[in-house]
Amino acid sequence: MDPIQLLFYVNGQKVVEKNVDPEMMLLPYLRKNLRLTGTKYGCGGGGCGACTVMISRYNPSTKAIRHHPVNACLTPICSLHGTAVTTVEGLGNTRTRLHPIQERIAKCHGTQCGFCTPGMVMSMYALLRNHPEPTLDQLTDALGGNLCRCTGYRPIIDACKTFCKASGCCQSKENGVCCLDQEINGLAESQEEDKTSPELFSEEEFLPLDPTQELIFPPELMRIAEKQPPKTRVFYGERVTWISPVTLKELVEAKFKYPQAPIVMGYTSVGPEVKFKGVFHPIIISPDRIEELGVISQARDGLTLGAGLSLDQVKDILADIVQKLPEEKTQTYRALLKHLRTLAGSQIRNMASLGGHIVSRHLDSDLNPLLAVGNCTLNLLSKDGERRIPLSEEFLRKCPEADLKPQEVLVSVNIPWSRKWEFVSAFRQAQRQQNALAIVNSGMRVLFREGGGVIEELSILYGGVGSTIISAKNSCQRLIGRPWNEGMLDTACRLVLDEVTLAASAPGGKVEFKRTLIISFLFKFYLEVSQGLKREDPGHSPSLAGNHESALDDLHSKHPWRTLTHQNVDPAQLPQDPIGRPIMHLSGIKHATGEAIYCDDMPAVDRELFLTFVTSSRAHAKIVSIDLSEALSLPGVVDIITADHLQEANTFGTETFLATDEVHCVGHLVCAVIADSETRAKQAAKQVKVVYQDLAPLILTIENYE
Ligand code: FES
Ligand code: FES
Repeated sequence: MDPIQLLFYVNGQKVVEKNVDPEMMLLPYLRKNLRLTGTKYGCGGGGCGACTVMISRYNPSTKAIRHHPVNACLTPICSLHGTAVTTVEGLGNTRTRLHPIQERIAKCHGTQCGFCTPGMVMSMYALLRNHPEPTLDQLTDALGGNLCRCTGYRPIIDACKTFCKASGCCQSKENGVCCLDQEINGLAESQEEDKTSPELFSEEEFLPLDPTQELIFPPELMRIAEKQPPKTRVFYGERVTWISPVTLKELVEAKFKYPQAPIVMGYTSVGPEVKFKGVFHPIIISPDRIEELGVISQARDGLTLGAGLSLDQVKDILADIVQKLPEEKTQTYRALLKHLRTLAGSQIRNMASLGGHIVSRHLDSDLNPLLAVGNCTLNLLSKDGERRIPLSEEFLRKCPEADLKPQEVLVSVNIPWSRKWEFVSAFRQAQRQQNALAIVNSGMRVLFREGGGVIEELSILYGGVGSTIISAKNSCQRLIGRPWNEGMLDTACRLVLDEVTLAASAPGGKVEFKRTLIISFLFKFYLEVSQGLKREDPGHSPSLAGNHESALDDLHSKHPWRTLTHQNVDPAQLPQDPIGRPIMHLSGIKHATGEAIYCDDMPAVDRELFLTFVTSSRAHAKIVSIDLSEALSLPGVVDIITADHLQEANTFGTETFLATDEVHCVGHLVCAVIADSETRAKQAAKQVKVVYQDLAPLILTIENYE
């Protein structure tokens, strides 16, 4: 296969790359090659949203352009052929014109250090390109993948809310009074007492949003997509070859030829493994615009979804279906939808594919336990033909007899309709509602004998509690035939705790908390199903002791709703005196346009060197030896500094800068590697061999600390 040129657009400018390195991600390409430093490097792993940009793609079959946010740090540039990329620089700047989002986020005090701001602006921009007057739900959803360590989010949300059609009411009424009225009444009283004002900005001075002023999709890309027959593209790098087949036949052939090569769509599973775990794939297969991978079809037994659909597309499809079909048919879809609303952030959901999520079988996958209890099946294809396998616990455990064969491709997933008297529930607990991996999650399903409240089928799967997703199948088996009542719940809790055991050394720790979650989810499931049974047939409803139904209430407020007031200045204060007035951060506008320059944004100076630290992997240990020889022999490595080199300069009072002979926490600085590039410094740091000898006490939890 001949290599081809990579063609895409950035902020309306054509980019053609002849020698594309498949290992090159969009973020360094923008920042280093194109010198567009407005897009920031925060976590580098899809977790913070600082690198958000918008990708636009034209589909010649539907004639539609799809705009969506992505994390540039996880987007290989090879995947961008034929797309248009918009970065914060493409929206506006202080020299020409500001985009209304940039203006409002600055004027509403939505920036402090400003590092997250370009990412926030771009997430909001992608939302407004699709929904110029978004709802609060859409707004909350769009910003879910962006972290801010400074502002507390309120002023950012305030700025973004100025684009919403709705007034900002949370739509809940307490004592018959709307939340807005409560806020306003409370505010009026406090203003009276404190002489404070909620006026932090004036909406009248904001530029209007005019969608006709946005960058158009490049006509050249549209023409190419319409006229040129799609052709498999291959990009050869120094270490990696990237193959993008455009038909299912070519995809199957590529998988036959390279059975060990991963199939990637969004690079959100493979990317972090390559980046952070040192996994290496010499060949990557990345299908592009293959119709069968984007299939959406409804049949008598359920819905079939193409494996290449993004999780965000799946969310929209399911949201549409649950509106149209009766609740009893859509139990699994509703449960999936609940998880899809909080799974990662909008950027990752737009990049990650349904098939990739299933096949990667991450321990903390939110969807797999649900798809398994929902009796889903996977449609596979290889040169040997088609095959269907159940998405079962055995598949999730990668049992060879239940798994894909190396040369098989997952084409689509069948998700059956639920039946009458069948209930499916989804649970997860994470450190924050969105954009955080679950500590424990679960999918649960029960089917009752027609109208009798007696269990006919029961399946319960937990994620996050072991080295694979775990099924409580023996417990479920023993509960078949039991009526759905509190006696059954008692037995179920005992059985499940016996079956889903957690060793004290379980990965991720938090063993007691996880055990509590296992039972809490079961209890919630009992309540949810009891409520469902009561709705279906009040005559068969199980009794619920006390007021336990409140356990089903959502703890998270639906929309962020806060009010900030500031003290009014003395009317006699001179207008030019800024003290006490809510004044925009002086760098706010430049934060919002990406023009503010941070250290990492400065161009490299001649013969600049880069330093990275080797840090302790032990909590408390003696350093037995440090071997620098291999690291020092790598190209580009200039020196490695240890505590011995620094001598007295290493000591500050009772503390040392680099560890001398002991480390006292994971992350304790051990030595510093200096090289002529950041990549080489990091590579060399990995080659420093430190031998530790663990010491007591090891303080790993608050309970260990005495
Ligand atoms: Fe944090 Fe990309 S840098 S998501
Ligand atoms: Fe959001 Fe500093 S991280 S303003």
